[in-house]
Amino acid sequence: MAKYIVLGAQWGDEGKGKIVDLLSGKMDLVVRFQGGANAGHTVIIGDKKYVLHIIPGGIVSGKATNVIGNGCVVDPIIFSEEVKYLQDKGVKVSPDKLIVSSQAHIVTPVHKYLDKVLNKKIGTTGRGIGPAYGDKIHRTGIRAENILDGSFIDRFCEHAGNYKSICDQVYDEPFIDVDEAVAEMEKAGKYLKPYIQDSIEVIYGFLKKGANILYEGAQGTFLDIDHGTYPFVTSSSTSIGGAYTGSGVFMEFDKRIGIVKAYTTRVGEGPFPTELNDATGERLRKNGNEFGATTGRPRRCGWLDLKLLKRSFMINGFNYISLSKLSCLSGFEKILAAVDYDSKGQPVYKEFPGWEEEVEGITDISKLPANCVKYIDFIEEYLETPIGMISTGPDRNNIIFKEALF
Ligand code: IMO
Ligand code: MG
Repeated sequence: MAKYIVLGAQWGDEGKGKIVDLLSGKMDLVVRFQGGANAGHTVIIGDKKYVLHIIPGGIVSGKATNVIGNGCVVDPIIFSEEVKYLQDKGVKVSPDKLIVSSQAHIVTPVHKYLDKVLNKKIGTTGRGIGPAYGDKIHRTGIRAENILDGSFIDRFCEHAGNYKSICDQVYDEPFIDVDEAVAEMEKAGKYLKPYIQDSIEVIYGFLKKGANILYEGAQGTFLDIDHGTYPFVTSSSTSIGGAYTGSGVFMEFDKRIGIVKAYTTRVGEGPFPTELNDATGERLRKNGNEFGATTGRPRRCGWLDLKLLKRSFMINGFNYISLSKLSCLSGFEKILAAVDYDSKGQPVYKEFPGWEEEVEGITDISKLPANCVKYIDFIEEYLETPIGMISTGPDRNNIIFKEALF
């Protein structure tokens, strides 16, 4: 038995889906503990590709029980669409394999409207995440348990009515059609209902049995509401502390896996010291197919920022690195990594000679080009943490294990 947590060490889109999928085949329980349908986790098995937003990646393998924890915000409409999407692809989804915490908060069409009018400058995913967490903190939110106790629609009507009276006065953007939204919520709420349970009991039960457990993070450390580049962040605790508040159960994780992309990307607005607004950045975007899985937006690209990563490692206590997208760096004459910032906050780079050879599909570390190995060794040394695995391509099998995962 082992307990794993997988977290994005940068600004999200580090390739968490692949690692989650790799692990989840062996897991008894997979837990999402924060975020909502703003995540976009791509899982590729054989020639089939699954893009998941709210449902944990463990669903695809068919073996694991999956929990959407109390720290998450759940949009019942997106939830029902995603269940249908998976079922259409032949994945079995049922309430005994998928559990939504009764304490999770509900994302409503009002939240999506508010996201649009309030959060333009952040460049959010538009999924209503911030406003839903806002209501949670304001103590005016609607929880999944309200679907069970029969108060859901009354609460939704009150919520929509309250916001409508304010928004009609303040914003030019027309408010949502409330009657239409009530009908949608009613339908989606019924769909969600059988999946809702007290998830603490479920998680604790697996823990006591000595099960294999995986906690699946969404977004990345620098999108954390506390530790990220505020206010250009998401509204949940994306780092390790969120695993505890967002699932309600304490456990010691044997492997705290930091997913590190071999360069850096970010979607939406906010600081990005190593960003490349030039042909090199464009090339990284093309090599890495860096377009958002949730919104399709082109991702901003730049060199690896080790100085920033060091902070991520302080926050999360990672003891295992999974390095992703290494194959996207082939063909660059030189490769840079920020190791410090100067007095003006500009990155100070260390330069590495590049490599021409294709890296895609390599599974044996001894086959990697010598310059590539130098780059990897430096990352390991700088972060004082072993690189346990290296992803060398999008396929499940494109992976080098330096250290056993199981
Ligand atoms: P995964 O799990 C990358 C970014 C948005 C925006 C900011 C706030 O696929 O790594 P939000 O809609 O959460 O209020 O938007 O956070 N963002 C992500 N960026 N990957 C994600 O998820 C993200 N989820 C949110 O682009 O800048
Ligand atoms: Mg994503």
